[in-house]
Amino acid sequence: MLVSGTGTNMAALLYASRLPGAAYEIVLVASNDPQAGALALAEAEGVPTFALSHKGMDRADHDAAMDAAIRESGAEFVALAGYMRILGDEIVGRWAGRMLNIHPSLLPLYTGLETHKRAIEAGDSHGGASVHLVIPELDSGEVLGQVRVAIQPGDTPATLAERVKLAEHQLYPRILSDYVSRGYDADYLYARVAELALALPEAEEKISHGSPGFRTGGKSGKFFAHFSDQHHGVPHISVLAKTSGQDELLDLIERDPDTFYKPAYYGASGWVGIILNRPGCDWDQVAHWLERSWASVAPKRLTKLRDAAAEF
Ligand code: GAR
Repeated sequence: MLVSGTGTNMAALLYASRLPGAAYEIVLVASNDPQAGALALAEAEGVPTFALSHKGMDRADHDAAMDAAIRESGAEFVALAGYMRILGDEIVGRWAGRMLNIHPSLLPLYTGLETHKRAIEAGDSHGGASVHLVIPELDSGEVLGQVRVAIQPGDTPATLAERVKLAEHQLYPRILSDYVSRGYDADYLYARVAELALALPEAEEKISHGSPGFRTGGKSGKFFAHFSDQHHGVPHISVLAKTSGQDELLDLIERDPDTFYKPAYYGASGWVGIILNRPGCDWDQVAHWLERSWASVAPKRLTKLRDAAAEF
């Protein structure tokens, strides 16, 4: 987590992470302000901390030092919680899809500072908070969740900020938990595989042996992928794709046993299992295998078109 201030959001995230069954743990709280209250609290709670003042430092150098500390901690995700430094494109790019922020407004309204003042002055009925993915453009990444907070007559920016924080403390742990868990959730993984598989020419879904499969279209359509949710006693949620045969299959498993495995039954005919429920699942690799597998069974008239398009 990156923080600059008092750290009430950090506290909410931390205490939520200590409930039974929590989906994440906090491995580092890092700050650009060595005096931040959040750091003292993290230390008291036994969470490792890192502090480096940005004063007199280049933005890129400061970002790089924070990034090095984050990677050293082994973190898989970064949650910004009142981190009041703008991060440069490099660190944001490195953590794309794995860096979240909480912002005290109903985005896309009121990016930047003084959000409560602006909402009150505009006569809005509600303020609120948003958790979003971080992209280079400030406060503009995909919104993952929001809570609306009614603005009461007589609210000042300070009174509204206080109530919005209560909402933030409910919102952030829930959204962060869901986000970090989804890579282990069969419904989410299935949806991603289906989106990739069905984007291939004339692909269609068909249940095969009780599981979703994907095949090329038409009466004679052949399967090019099967979705497998912890079948036959394996802990993997995976997609099965066709290799060129046993040699390639075994070679893949030997080179990258964290990604590939030999599935029951299908493995005997050269299908490889690509494990999806693991840290850092590489979706470009999944897409590549789906396409390759599709090309190996698709009718010539379709692969010809695709090859021509690729050349073009
Ligand atoms: C929170 O309200 C958070 O939404 C806001 O700073 C506060 C941090 O409070 N973040 C931003 O304004 C980011 N642009 P906290 O230190 O008590 O969690």
